[in-house]
Amino acid sequence: MMKMGTTVDQNDAEHLVEANAYDDHLPPLVRALKASAERKIIAFHFPGHKRGQAAPSPLAELIGTKPFLHDVTELPDLDKFYSPKGHLLEAKRLAAELFGAEETWFLVGGTSCGVQAAIMATCSPGDTIILVRNAHISATTGVILSGAVPKYIVPQYNSEWDIAAGITPFQVKSTIRESKASSRKVGAVFVTSPTYNGICSNLNEISKVCHSQGIPLIVDEAHGAHFKFHPEMPKTALDQGADISIQSTHKVLCSFSQTSMLHISGENIDRERLHKCLHALQSTSPSWLFLASLDAARHQLSTDCTAFNDVVNLANVAKILIRKIPGISVLDLSAFPGFSSMDPLRVTIGVWQLGLSGFQANEILDNDLGIIPELVSTNSVTLAFSQGTTGEHVQRLVSGLKHLSEKFSAVNCGNAITGKARPYDVPVMSLNPREAFFASKTRIKFKDCSGEVCGESLCPYPPGIPVLVPGEVITEKALDYLQQIKSHGGYIVGAADPQLDYIVVCKTSH
Ligand SMILES: Cc1ncc(COP(=O)(O)O)c(C=O)c1O
Repeated sequence: MMKMGTTVDQNDAEHLVEANAYDDHLPPLVRALKASAERKIIAFHFPGHKRGQAAPSPLAELIGTKPFLHDVTELPDLDKFYSPKGHLLEAKRLAAELFGAEETWFLVGGTSCGVQAAIMATCSPGDTIILVRNAHISATTGVILSGAVPKYIVPQYNSEWDIAAGITPFQVKSTIRESKASSRKVGAVFVTSPTYNGICSNLNEISKVCHSQGIPLIVDEAHGAHFKFHPEMPKTALDQGADISIQSTHKVLCSFSQTSMLHISGENIDRERLHKCLHALQSTSPSWLFLASLDAARHQLSTDCTAFNDVVNLANVAKILIRKIPGISVLDLSAFPGFSSMDPLRVTIGVWQLGLSGFQANEILDNDLGIIPELVSTNSVTLAFSQGTTGEHVQRLVSGLKHLSEKFSAVNCGNAITGKARPYDVPVMSLNPREAFFASKTRIKFKDCSGEVCGESLCPYPPGIPVLVPGEVITEKALDYLQQIKSHGGYIVGAADPQLDYIVVCKTSH
């Protein structure tokens, strides 16, 4: 039986057919949304604003009612998110084809939920997961959800920049060998490539190492959704043999925030289990507008093979101009011997020679010049170039950086952050993350925490890489680093007390 509010009468049905034929050039989900909105239905379905009839006025005044018109979830004339048969299935098929996957999932919980699902799909409680120490916090929560036991690989680290790169195939090989000595099964190897700063690991060799041992490779490619679309870009994870790649389409590409794609290739992944995990972690009311934005972002690239030409040129020119500015450095691969590919669109600028911290440079760029970087770190800020970047933006950026240089190179205000390198050592794990997450806890004063077992993820955001993970023994070095981030105005997520006067620790540590 059909829902009352969505019955298709004869006129509507004819109109739908007409609209579909006329709109053939549109991406399938956009076409479906348009056709659905053009039907003269009476909405007795959710959301309560009824396609904008009762849109809250402050927001409607800001964005109009059109976004509300299309703010719908699964309707009979749309599709089913978890068992698509129509427009969504077609949209996913087209995305898989473009991104080089065998199957693609659209995500409405960002890359975060894709990372969690990928870990849950490959690692059972007690399995080892081999992962980079600079993985995003969603990998930590994936480990907690799955009950896997992490075995970390420490990334190459440059202390002048206070930036970590990737990991090498040799590290993966020796870590697998060490892990195989224990009775635990290795469920997966998890690598972040590119990093937030655009540094890529040699996934081609890493995937060969993993597959030779029958271990699937999951790649957090949140920052690399654009790699397929320009010859100067690094190769994609799938093209290098990854079994799962998760990409934040909403970062460099042009879908709405919170939308990502998970791509699968090969036979190493239990797809049914992965689907169940995605089902468990995502909403049962996904926004069709968000899904349509993924489809539209895919369409934008499949209809324009030159989409990234201009911005790659702009980024290359910007780097040449910025390198000429006294006191300012531009991150390149010379900071990371052994790594040979980097995203040309990620421009990280070092400011320590001006006597500035990245936090201060960010404040000046934002408050005085209206330039907002994507990422702020201790000694640098990172700018994300993408299709929306224009020549005028680059001009303003370069003149803003000249202003910064002129203002500070003479005075060197002495606020550069030196000597407190981020601790990327292999942590001492007293409890595994899941045990620690569910253990009884207590709060202890920050200054008294050294030697305790951490009960929470303490994570400067961005980049969202935890300094401490639940279950790890808290070190002086980690406390120093967190203190430094906090005193420079950095934002720590995961902490019950964001001021960090107290840290939540596991009672079992006593
Ligand atoms: C490396 C990395 N992985 C995963 C994520 C999570 O992505 P999302 O914001 O799409 O959930 C981020 C977010 O910044 C990230 O930097």
